[in-house]
Amino acid sequence: MSRSTYLDPAATIDARVEDLLARMRLPEKVGQMLQLDARGDIDDIVVGKLAGSILHASPDTMLRAVDLVRRTRLQIPLLTGDDAIHGHSFWPGATIFPSQLGMACSWDAELVERAARATAVEVAATGIHWTFSPVLCIGRELRWGRVDETFGEDPVLIGELASAMVRGYQGRGLDDPTAILACAKHFAGYSETQGGRDASEADISRRKLRSWFLPPFEGVAREGCRTFMIGYQSMDGVPITANRWLLNDVLKQEWGWSGTLITDWDNVGRMVWEQQVCADYTEAAARAVKAGNDLVMTTPRFLEGALDAVATGALAEADIDAAVRRILRLKFELGLFEDPRVPDADRQAEVIGSASHRALNLEVARASLVLLRNTGVLPLTGTLGRDADGRATASAPKTIALLGRNADDVDDQLGDWAGASGQVPWMADGHPRECTETILDGLRTLAPHGWTITYGRGADIEVLQPTGETFPDGQPMPPVFHDAPVRRELLDEAVRNARGADVAVVVVGDTIALTGEATSTATLELMGGQRELLDAVAATGTPMVVVVLSGKPQVLPVSALAADALVWAFSPGMRGGTAVAELLLGLIEPSGRLPISVPRHVGQQPVYYNTIRGQHGDRYADLTQDPAFVFGEGRGFSPVEYADLVIPQPRVSADGVLRARVRVANTGQRPVRELVQVYVSDVVTSVTWADRELKAFRHVDLAPGQSRVVDLELPASSCTLVDAGAVRRVEPGAFDLLVGPQSRRSALLAARFEITA
Ligand code: NOJ
Repeated sequence: MSRSTYLDPAATIDARVEDLLARMRLPEKVGQMLQLDARGDIDDIVVGKLAGSILHASPDTMLRAVDLVRRTRLQIPLLTGDDAIHGHSFWPGATIFPSQLGMACSWDAELVERAARATAVEVAATGIHWTFSPVLCIGRELRWGRVDETFGEDPVLIGELASAMVRGYQGRGLDDPTAILACAKHFAGYSETQGGRDASEADISRRKLRSWFLPPFEGVAREGCRTFMIGYQSMDGVPITANRWLLNDVLKQEWGWSGTLITDWDNVGRMVWEQQVCADYTEAAARAVKAGNDLVMTTPRFLEGALDAVATGALAEADIDAAVRRILRLKFELGLFEDPRVPDADRQAEVIGSASHRALNLEVARASLVLLRNTGVLPLTGTLGRDADGRATASAPKTIALLGRNADDVDDQLGDWAGASGQVPWMADGHPRECTETILDGLRTLAPHGWTITYGRGADIEVLQPTGETFPDGQPMPPVFHDAPVRRELLDEAVRNARGADVAVVVVGDTIALTGEATSTATLELMGGQRELLDAVAATGTPMVVVVLSGKPQVLPVSALAADALVWAFSPGMRGGTAVAELLLGLIEPSGRLPISVPRHVGQQPVYYNTIRGQHGDRYADLTQDPAFVFGEGRGFSPVEYADLVIPQPRVSADGVLRARVRVANTGQRPVRELVQVYVSDVVTSVTWADRELKAFRHVDLAPGQSRVVDLELPASSCTLVDAGAVRRVEPGAFDLLVGPQSRRSALLAARFEITA
């Protein structure tokens, strides 16, 4: 007897899909559309509901799920997914890189691509085919709990880094056994929350979407990102789940994207119980399918809803077929019918947390650190070299008083989506302790022989009060966060340590309880006794270095802003402590730049550099509008000067390329990796528009004293705006090219050019 076409690898994918679809009964088809939470009853999920996909499977459940598929009539392989968003989050001992926001500080697409590749290699070995990453949301509202998951505030930077990540995950193509599916999320505008409230209505027009929020998604769609996840929110009254315009007209028709769409967590159910725009699951299922969704994440009742919708005529079976085709196509393209890519223990032993991935992780962590202030106290040693033990060298012994909870807290250092961050039950204690190097570990290992490192926690940050309650969908509610009281004895010890030291290094920041989904914050201040700790140490007169180790930007007190040095480390990953210690000791050169603005006060929200022109005045009556640190800000140990910005041919046609050059000089004693940033300002626009926008950036390595002329190129076609009719175009006329080390106008050299019609 001849083999069924769908099982024949020699048949075309189209033929295999159609053959299989023709054999499927309606419940099997709807089952394929379900992605269910594998922390539930896995037998029921696979054999009862016939789910096509699972997420959050523990290593043991994964093995069982694979086995259960054999008990189903058609034995259609499962598509397995999880949130491996800065490393394989929930696999004990996997490589956890800095958060997306941390990685974004590198402004280095090639490095981000390599990190994603390493993640894919680890994830693929564990039987997971799909990561729900990267996040392309724009980080403008810093109270939002998920800012750490973004690449920051600028669509160009987000687009470049997200495309790199997609390339890294998807490797040489889906038939590459180390490739995993990337998932661009959360499509689109989810981060535009009201007051930071997670998943609230996004007040966003189509023009605004097209101006800032859609371009990064369009980029990854064209890059071949195979899946997209939709956001939770609604816009203009329409939940994204039901937004046919966005999902169909824009994504599929206009951009020609032919991938597979997945909802976010119970989006279909939310239309019933949360947004209350559907009377029941029948209506919700029909609206979601008609809008173009394929996989439905964790809405078990979608099964009954969709079956009922077909029975009552609210949905045609052909609508279900269209979605199932896209799901099956993905499974065939991954080759799952021939090789279901099940967990491979030998491969895991070889690649998970391997030495080369750890080395790469350190490279990424180093590039993620941003030095924002330095009066000369750093580096703590004048050295560039290491001794035979790998330690820094120094001429005189020193005592360093290291202070602060985040100097030695693994979970806060790794951040959200990393083992103990609360999403999965099988890693309550997180990753094995030895995988992570805290700042205390790093200083103890790397400080010169003969140096003394003292450590004191200095302050508590939080008191967490579990609520024991669940959200309507059964998910546990996060604990309530209370500010920890100031502890006199910790403060006294900190002051004693600081007084007895040559330098105090105070590590402050937030905790994982202040980061993540449904954990937005009303404030951005340092919590607990951390402000008192900074003030008390500053008052000792001992030189003070502040390291902020946090998920997202925070508001710092004056004592921290006036410290002798300030370093920012956004959830810097397993090797973050070593990287920070290396920076402090001068074993590496700081090279990160902020991908997001850091406000002076929560009341400045939102504050981002590419705001639209026009307001009365330029400050609040009681406060400047200038953030503490701006997009693009950061420095090396040596000063860098910019001069002689020249545009030899300042008239360029709309399809031409603008060429310019600028002189960049390292005027200090240490090497520098400078990030030359190129912004454009459109002088007169037919509609109001951002005062300036990032268009290009380039790293330039400069030896001490070296000066270089850097050539810059910019296609005139990138100098666009989105007009009143929501069409993106170049408006010919005068523009300013702005070049320099960060986004503040005062720091940028300017040269006029003209784009001709
Ligand atoms: C909800 C989050 O919004 C999304 O980003 C994530 O991928 C899914 N849960 C699955 O964990």
